[in-house]
Amino acid sequence: MTKVEAIIRPERFEQVKEALAQAGFAGLNVVSVTGRGVQKGVTYVGRTGERTTVEMLPKVKLELVVRDGDVQKVVDIIVSNSRTGNIGDGKIFLITVADAIRVRTGERGEQAL
Ligand SMILES: Nc1ncnc2c1ncn2[C@@H]1O[C@H](COP(=O)(O)OP(=O)(O)OP(=O)(O)O)[C@@H](O)[C@H]1O
Ligand SMILES: [Mg+2]
Repeated sequence: MTKVEAIIRPERFEQVKEALAQAGFAGLNVVSVTGRGVQKGVTYVGRTGERTTVEMLPKVKLELVVRDGDVQKVVDIIVSNSRTGNIGDGKIFLITVADAIRVRTGERGEQAL
C-alpha cells in the first residue's frame, strides 16, 4: 500500500476530489496547508514598483492510501486535474505504508482500505 500525498492548488481541490470519487477512490484526508517550493513564494510588483513577497502560499494537501496497483491511476487523476502549466501547480509524494486497520472490523492491509 502507498500513501499518496498531494499538495495542490486549493481551487483545483473540488475537481480532483470529484475525479477521484468517480474512479472509485472515496476515502481521503484534506488539510489546508501553507508552503513554498523552489521559488520560495511569490513576489508581486505593484504599480509604483514596490515589491511585496508572500513567502508561504496556501495549498491543499490530499492524503489517500491506495493499493500499489492503483498508484499510477491516482497520480494521473491528480496531475491531469491539477496542472495549469504554471509554477506552483503542486507536488506529489508517494510513501510506503506498512499496514492498515479498519477499526470497526479489525480487517488488515488492503482489506482495510
Ligand atoms: N520538497 C518539498 N517538500 C515538501 N513540500 C513541498 C516541497 N516542495 C514543494 N512542497 C509543497 O508543495 C507546494 C507546491 O510546490 P510547487 O508546485 O511550487 O513546487 P516547485 O518544486 O516549486 O515546482 P514549480 O517550479 O512548478 O513551482 C509548496 O507550496 C509546498 O507546500
Ligand atoms: Mg514553485
